Amino acid sequence: TKRLPRAIVVGVKKGGTRAVLEFIRVHPEGTVTSPMALSPPPGACPSSSLTFPLCFACRSLMPRTLDSQITVEKTPSYFVTKEAPRRIFNMSRDTKLIVVVRNPVTRAISDYTQTLSKKPDIPTFEGLTFRNRSLGLVDTSWNAIRIGMYAVHLQSWLQYFPLSQIHFVSGERLITDPAGEMGKVQDFLGIKRVITDKHFYFNKTKGFPCLKKSETSGLPRCLGKSKGRTHVQIDPEVIEQLRDFYRPYNIKFYETVGQDFRWE
Ligand code: A3P
Repeated sequence: TKRLPRAIVVGVKKGGTRAVLEFIRVHPEGTVTSPMALSPPPGACPSSSLTFPLCFACRSLMPRTLDSQITVEKTPSYFVTKEAPRRIFNMSRDTKLIVVVRNPVTRAISDYTQTLSKKPDIPTFEGLTFRNRSLGLVDTSWNAIRIGMYAVHLQSWLQYFPLSQIHFVSGERLITDPAGEMGKVQDFLGIKRVITDKHFYFNKTKGFPCLKKSETSGLPRCLGKSKGRTHVQIDPEVIEQLRDFYRPYNIKFYETVGQDFRWE
C-alpha cells in the first residue's frame, strides 16, 4: 500500500537530520522517502513552497510499504515554514513529528560553513550576524540566526499538535550516544528497539559515529563529506554575543518541551 508518511523529520537544518534518517533506514520496519527523489505532478500540490508530501495527491508518489513498516520523510525547512504545521495537520493529524535540535550558535556556524562552501564570496559570519555589532543587535532576519530561535517556531506547531506528538532529538547526544538517542526515536515511533549500540562504531578519521553495516551494501558506512565539516573559525567574542542572544530563547524552549539541552 502507498501511505502518507507516518513521521516527518521537520527540522532543523544542520541539526543532524541526515544521521537520524540514515539510522532509521537500518530498521527493518523503517522506510525512508526523500522529497528530492520524488517530484509531484504539476498542479498536484497547491503551493510551490510546500510540495511533497504536503498534499493528498502526493500519496501516489509514496513508496509501497507493508503493514508492519513505517514511512519516514525528511524536510528540515518545515520547522521554520509558517504554513507547514497547518498543512501537515490537514494532511494527517496523527503524523508524528521529529525535530533534531542542536546548540543554535553551533548550528548557525555550521549553516554558514555550508553556504560558504557553495558561495565563497558571501560576507563574513560577523557581517551577516549583526545589524549593529557594538550594540549587540543581532539580525534575526538572517536565516542562519532565525532557524535557531526554536522557541518561536515551536509555538506555531503547538497550535496544531500536542507536545506528545513531537519528539526532540538532541543533535549533541546523537553524536556522543547515537544508540541512546535512536532508542528514544524508536520508542516514539512505536517500533521495536532494533537499532542499538551494536550498529555503531566510532570512526576516528571521520570523528563521528558510523554504521557498522549499511542497509544496502552491508559494509561499514559513514555519512558523506558534507556531514561533519570543519567549521569556519569565529571570533570568540562574537560567539559570546550570540550565546547571550539565544539564552532567553533556549530557556523558553527548555521550559516548553520540559527538557534541558544544556547549551548554556
Ligand atoms: P556539521 O557538518 O556542522 O558537523 P544535517 O544532516 O541536518 O544537515 O546535519 C548535519 C550535522 O549532523 C553535521 O553538522 C554533524 O555535526 C551532525 N551529525 C550528527 N551525527 C553525525 C554522524 N554520525 N556523522 C556525521 N555528521 C553527524
